[in-house]
Amino acid sequence: MKRSPIPALTLVLLALPLCSALACTTGRETTVAGYDARWDALGTGDKMAHMHAQVEPAMREAFQSFDAERFADFDCQTCHGPGVDDGSYAMPNPALPHLREAGMFKEHRKADPEISKFMWKEVELPMADLLGQTAGPKGEFACWSCHIVDDRHE
Ligand code: HEC
Ligand code: HEC
Repeated sequence: MKRSPIPALTLVLLALPLCSALACTTGRETTVAGYDARWDALGTGDKMAHMHAQVEPAMREAFQSFDAERFADFDCQTCHGPGVDDGSYAMPNPALPHLREAGMFKEHRKADPEISKFMWKEVELPMADLLGQTAGPKGEFACWSCHIVDDRHE
């Protein structure tokens, strides 16, 4: 049977958003805005200052526009949890909901499509930019930068 070109094209078109979504790496490897170094090379003081000046304000705005009520008290603790009190700011934060990445986070996309999309488009991607990192499961910054992913395979 002769294969029509249409299904192939449809597949490509369907694959594109998914690719930029979860399967592929996006963003650029750069130095952190305002610094001469990449994120990993910054000292804790500079990381702290960048979190205060850039990350927390941008992310507060994003989370509160997504859900003003749920994220009314958004601050360092929303992401860092117990890492604020013990001063480690260690990430991922085990107190955030654990995720399962099987089927490109199918479980979560089914249970709560809105927040899953928000996490990818308005948290993961902008946050990678703020840190000058590449995004996506094969990049430097992804869901597992904040959440513990129970079934993570690298
Ligand atoms: C939107 C989530 C988010 C918010 C809000 C946030 N952080 Fe962070 N922070 C992160 C992530 C993710 C990392 C780890 C980045 C990496 O190295 O991969 C991090 C790393 C850090 C580090 C470096 C820790 C280390 O081990 O090197 C410090 C210090 C820090 N944050 C302080 C703060 C402070 C202070 C605030 C509040 C002003 C804050 N953060 C707000 C997500 C957040
Ligand atoms: C910069 C840190 C950060 C990154 C990156 C991140 N998240 Fe989140 N995520 C959070 C925070 C903070 C919450 C809110 C937790 C709360 O309600 O206090 C959250 C909540 C969620 C929830 C809601 C869970 C529930 O039980 O309500 C889901 C689902 C989720 N994230 C999935 C993802 C996925 C999928 C990715 C990657 C595409 C991702 N997250 C990337 C910080 C992050």
